[in-house]
Amino acid sequence: MDYLDFFKNQLSQLKVQGRYRIFANLERIVGKAPYALWHSPTGPRQVTVWCSNDYLGMSHHPQVIDALQQAVAQYGAGAGGTRNIAGTARSHIQLENTLATWHGKESALLFSSGYVANEASLYALGTNIPDCVFFSDEKNHASIIHGIKSSRAHRHIFKHNNMADLEALLRQYPPQTPKIIVAVSVYSMDGDMAPLADIITLAKRYNALTFVDEVHAVGLYGPTGAGLAEQLGLSEDIDIIQANFAKAIGVVGGYIAGQAAVVDYVRSFAPGFIFTTSLPPATAAAAHASITHIQHDSTLRQNLHTNVNELRAQLRAEGIPFMDAPSHITPVVMGDAIHCRNVTDVLLNTYGHYVQPINYPTVPLGQERLRITVTPAHSTQDIRGFAQALRAALIATSQAAA
Ligand SMILES: Cc1ncc(COP(=O)(O)O)c(C=O)c1O
Repeated sequence: MDYLDFFKNQLSQLKVQGRYRIFANLERIVGKAPYALWHSPTGPRQVTVWCSNDYLGMSHHPQVIDALQQAVAQYGAGAGGTRNIAGTARSHIQLENTLATWHGKESALLFSSGYVANEASLYALGTNIPDCVFFSDEKNHASIIHGIKSSRAHRHIFKHNNMADLEALLRQYPPQTPKIIVAVSVYSMDGDMAPLADIITLAKRYNALTFVDEVHAVGLYGPTGAGLAEQLGLSEDIDIIQANFAKAIGVVGGYIAGQAAVVDYVRSFAPGFIFTTSLPPATAAAAHASITHIQHDSTLRQNLHTNVNELRAQLRAEGIPFMDAPSHITPVVMGDAIHCRNVTDVLLNTYGHYVQPINYPTVPLGQERLRITVTPAHSTQDIRGFAQALRAALIATSQAAA
């Protein structure tokens, strides 16, 4: 085989299909959000960012930066080992205790990312629980899919948010068969939410464990920002809550929270937890500072939700159809990868608005889209300017195609 030829061919197919990923080289500068410096092919240029997962801007928050800097000065840059071998620091333990309390659970466990938290936990559960069967929503994140697949446990994929389908699958098994229902509370690409109360009801009826990914909900929902389960008063009924620090918390890393025995089990059996260096203590300290702020001050999340309403009002005013999701995520479906790329190119090059096109396999073919995330830092003027530019970009690209 000519390996290089193979790689080049595969890449050129992606290019022809409009699915080749082009990274925007950005400098998100503290104090300047929502603007960033884009290192364009023709030189640096200021742009407005409309697709960051730093939903509340916590990665630039002075308390978070302070905590990080102080912890780096005190503890250094790295953890120095796996959790078991010299890599457990006071900051890890403090963060795990705070996370457990935040979610109303006995215990919590840190991972290097949200991806690893899902993959490692589901792998450990599926591999080691005898005859375990997973019931996984068809729109679950890649990390959930990989964790379940790699465990080689038996699995069923239920139709998205479809409780009748889930129940029909659960019903096939006797109560004593171990079952785990896996869902995401806020789906990242459609912005819709899982029917958590119904999932819990089914779990209780069929004696299943529940595993819920709150990655796009922590920091944003619930009286203390602990997520959708907190908002709905359901935290206690979910067996394992998984989330991360990379979105609204503004740092990096992932975790699970649950009853002490489940968390200790994952800690003891998950290779993705055991055989990797722990998060830098400074990262844990920064995440802790961010969560503490979020727990005690809801201003940022209130401002975020106000801006989501403003964005949707402006899109309506410009006649732009969007998915009116119940969350903070606003998808505008383009339906074709090349059209999607053309629109985002015009937005960026002509109007200085950066939205990354979302293509297959992140979304199904034909569902290519802009996934717009407004933040508390965007002004009404920014939002109006963006909606007007998007309308102009849609007109320009449809004229060019005609
Ligand atoms: C639903 C969901 N779960 C997990 C992850 C992975 O989180 P992380 O970026 O911390 O690895 C993501 C990231 O995009 C996500 O959208």
